[in-house]
Amino acid sequence: MAKKNVSVFFCQECGNETSKWSGQCPACGAWNSLVEEIVDKTTVKARGKISDVKPTKLINVTASNEHRISTNIEEFDRVLGGGIVPGSMILVGGDPGIGKSTLLLQTCRQLCLSNISVMYVSGEESLQQIKIRADRIGAFNDKLDLLCDTNLDTIKSVVEREKPTVLIIDSIQTMYNESVGSAPGSVSQVRESTSVLMEIAKVQGIAVFIVGHVTKEGTVAGPRVLEHMVDTVLYFEGDRHASYRILRGVKNRFGSTNEIGVFEMRDTGLNEVKNPSAVMLDGRPENATGSIVTCSMEGTRPILVEIQSLVSKTAFEIPRRMATGCDYNRVNLLVAVLERMRDARANKSCGIFLGRSDIYVNIAGGMRINEPAIDLAIALAIYSSEKDIAVNADTVVFGEIGLSGEVRSVAMAEQRVNEAKKLGFKRAIIPASNLSITTGVKDIEVIGVSNVKEAVDAISR
Ligand code: TYD
Ligand code: MG
Repeated sequence: MAKKNVSVFFCQECGNETSKWSGQCPACGAWNSLVEEIVDKTTVKARGKISDVKPTKLINVTASNEHRISTNIEEFDRVLGGGIVPGSMILVGGDPGIGKSTLLLQTCRQLCLSNISVMYVSGEESLQQIKIRADRIGAFNDKLDLLCDTNLDTIKSVVEREKPTVLIIDSIQTMYNESVGSAPGSVSQVRESTSVLMEIAKVQGIAVFIVGHVTKEGTVAGPRVLEHMVDTVLYFEGDRHASYRILRGVKNRFGSTNEIGVFEMRDTGLNEVKNPSAVMLDGRPENATGSIVTCSMEGTRPILVEIQSLVSKTAFEIPRRMATGCDYNRVNLLVAVLERMRDARANKSCGIFLGRSDIYVNIAGGMRINEPAIDLAIALAIYSSEKDIAVNADTVVFGEIGLSGEVRSVAMAEQRVNEAKKLGFKRAIIPASNLSITTGVKDIEVIGVSNVKEAVDAISR
């Protein structure tokens, strides 16, 4: 077959392929993200060889009872859905410096201690650098093989020879494939490298972890394509400057998504945080106005967080609104609800005027929460700051707010109240429609509210 080099354009954001350059990606709408790459179309064609493949009847397929390898890091196991599935491919994404290499090296250590052979391939660091990091983490045994290489053909042949149970590729962006013309880190390199690794994973039953760096837009650099190729996608979140990190499952073919693992970065590597609520509430000011504790569900796990708000007279033409850790538009909506608040019993308006105030809302601890169940806490934090009322520190608040100011029920109310009770809270303000679910909870006063006005009255008491 004649060799045919074709020039195509890849979107660095979504991986979309077009034959013509344009300023905006036709698939995802990103501007100036298309880059030219030379692709050898012949290799692509030659691979699609037709053979006499037959489909299999589903009932004839015998599933091996999924055996999982525990990482012995409980928080990591939880996000993975109970452990590593042999032959699966796991993408660990995150900003540079957030702790991906550290977590995976710690995983290596734990796996080696349970006599599982692991190969750690690093394209970013030298053997000495890995050793220095390893020394901080703890003692290793002789089960861990290191390889500093970026050529996938070499890596593949070494893996075939050594046959590790778990393979770790530290950063897919540094790997390259000789058959692909473009530079490492380009969309076609990353895509091709991933498919080579996928073959290793599936054919030899090796669990492969891939580290992927994230661009500032929050997607794995260029190759969003990677996300649908792998079995599991995990993202490391958190403020680089704060010490704890959150590992979040975004996709998992072998478990539930939206589970999180919480870690704290120490001088000895990442430590598991078994009780995230206590960490999130650490350092909470006493009797401060504009501070409300709420309970958000992260997967099946309730986490208490403090919502802070500051309302102050504006010095600008248009008042400033800022939301850190929660949705900006949601905050604006809640401000509108507070302004139009009505006292249903007296049938008159009792809204507060915020049109000349700057409003800042922050979720303490660097968590990002998109759950509507924190609505009520945000609204009350704004109210508390505006009215200069300090809310009792023993109170936890949750509930979704509708446009007419009604407080709507949320899922898993009982777990939320229980978590608050566990951490010593004495009072919970929750949607009235959730009251019946929480009757079994003792030792905490549960107050049901059906609209924002009632909630405001409850905290003003
Ligand atoms: P690293 O795992 O290299 O990040 P990534 O692979 O995601 O780019 O870790 C980054 C940071 O963690 C680094 O700035 C130093 C810090 N760190 C500690 O604070 N304590 C430790 O024990 C280790 C190993 C790293
Ligand atoms: Mg790294």
